[in-house]
Amino acid sequence: MRALLVVDHPRADSLTHAVAREFAKSATAQGVEIEWADLAREGFDPVMTAADEPDWADPRKRYSEAVRTEMARLERNEASVLVFPVWWWSLPARLKGWIDRVWNHGFAYGDRHLPQRRVWLIGVAGAGESAYAARGYAEAMRTQLEVGVLEYCGVAERRFELLYGTIESADAAATAVARAQALGREFAL
Ligand SMILES: Cc1cc2nc3c(=O)[nH]c(=O)nc-3n(C[C@H](O)[C@H](O)[C@H](O)COP(=O)(O)O)c2cc1C
Repeated sequence: MRALLVVDHPRADSLTHAVAREFAKSATAQGVEIEWADLAREGFDPVMTAADEPDWADPRKRYSEAVRTEMARLERNEASVLVFPVWWWSLPARLKGWIDRVWNHGFAYGDRHLPQRRVWLIGVAGAGESAYAARGYAEAMRTQLEVGVLEYCGVAERRFELLYGTIESADAAATAVARAQALGREFAL
């Protein structure tokens, strides 16, 4: 299987990057061919432009060069995994903008669906599981991202995982990396 690994964090020494690397290492060991999309390093611009705004009357609208480059990365991989830090119970702005601009009308939704069978979302969460449960944040994120984005775009094999409590202890960060290893193995199945 060929898979696009999209990571969004400004620091390569972040826990988010460590989780992404561990996931990639373990998926690769199981035979998955990983293509990296490191949005911060690549300087992806998340701000929507008129060129990339959908034209509801024209599902075959030709989007900008930058967006068509990203669409090609999705097209040449049958699966993706998006690894990100949870910021304000959601995606960081750059990853949100990548979805806004690239998962576009006529490509990911409308008369077509995202040309991938599997997309997994892995959020690195600072707060613990009980803090998420107390206010329904995990469910809210799952509804927004797994249902509202992945299901809406016709992705058949969806998964939304939060790696909790990563700023609460050094142990929790190590647990998150170990979990990434297990997820990488499962992703390959
Ligand atoms: C701007 C910002 C917003 C954050 N918001 C949340 C949040 O809503 N929920 C949460 O669990 N953690 C939140 N955090 C903590 C991150 O998820 C935390 O940094 C995470 O462990 C990722 O580690 P890393 O930054 O080393 O990759 C936030 C951090 C930042 C910088």
